[in-house]
Amino acid sequence: MYAAVITSSDAPPAYCAHPAPVAHDENEMVVEVLAAGLHHLTRAKAQGTHYSSAGEFPRVPGADGVVRDAAGRLRYAVLDDTNLGTFAERTVIDVRRSVVLPDGIDPVRIAAAMNPGMASWIALRRRISFREGQRVLVLGATGSAGRMAVQIAKRFGAAQVFAAGRDATRLKTALDLGADRTLTFDEISAAADVDVVLDFVWGAPAADAMLPILTARADRSAPLEWVQIGSIAGATAPIPSVALRASRLQILGSGIGSVSARDMIAELPELAAAVTDGDIDVQARAVPLSRVAEAWNEKASERTVFVP
Ligand SMILES: NC(=O)c1ccc[n+]([C@@H]2O[C@H](COP(=O)([O-])OP(=O)(O)OC[C@H]3O[C@@H](n4cnc5c(N)ncnc54)[C@H](OP(=O)(O)O)[C@@H]3O)[C@@H](O)[C@H]2O)c1
Repeated sequence: MYAAVITSSDAPPAYCAHPAPVAHDENEMVVEVLAAGLHHLTRAKAQGTHYSSAGEFPRVPGADGVVRDAAGRLRYAVLDDTNLGTFAERTVIDVRRSVVLPDGIDPVRIAAAMNPGMASWIALRRRISFREGQRVLVLGATGSAGRMAVQIAKRFGAAQVFAAGRDATRLKTALDLGADRTLTFDEISAAADVDVVLDFVWGAPAADAMLPILTARADRSAPLEWVQIGSIAGATAPIPSVALRASRLQILGSGIGSVSARDMIAELPELAAAVTDGDIDVQARAVPLSRVAEAWNEKASERTVFVP
């Protein structure tokens, strides 16, 4: 079979012949890959820079995807750290980390949406006790995960959603997705009275946003849950100590490890149904897997999805 094979952390994968996959125990299954997304997680795992990756080479990237099993059923599968990911014509999945999808779904849409969609879905459902009527600020609302966070927060009953980012023009599209207001980082204090921050940015922009938000709160003793989900602007953030003393700020993270794989998998069917029903807007571009070397570092506003 053919697969994308990465041999070092600083070079894109090459499309080449690869040994056929083999299942090793009763939980494993060899499947045909239909579509697999190129997420930040996928790149970081492939390059060995993600905390959940052993970083061994050579490896076939691909952290998740839509596959067809031997019985002809479509499944969405999330792979554990492995040297044989989903950027291949066939791969091995653990059936316990997969869900059966209804017939007639669009594999490209599902493959594009599940990773960025899970980011806020899991945070709101499994990491905090989010309640209808709460107010949410999304930091990094123009990206795939941020756009979905706006929609998912509204779907879960948020009374108000602020969509924040660095590009005022790109932010405008968040209004079509249900955001009540868009804000650049300079205007962030307008979201002072939110209950939850879904932060995909971290780094200096998140740290710089904290004091303007906290000091402008009508009631500083009202709880504010700041959920650290992504770190696109920096792995570390210089948080001012006063932010933790002068307000009831709680910073917590949501991702692989802070929520069990079992709890994550349990949320997959409902998210897949929301994507399939068209309730969640998805921006995806299908790219033949044979073009992986060129597309690996291409900038695209849509999520790249490889189709073997
Ligand atoms: N923990 C989880 O469960 C989970 C799941 C999925 C994703 N994530 C993480 O969430 C983050 C976003 O993922 P994504 O799929 O939405 O990525 P994406 O589609 O590439 O979007 C990136 C977003 O970050 C913004 N951004 C980039 N650099 C920035 C900077 N220096 N300052 C401020 N904003 C910046 C972009 O704004 P512009 O539009 O202005 O460029 C855009 O809104 C990544 O770190 C990813 O690894 C975490």
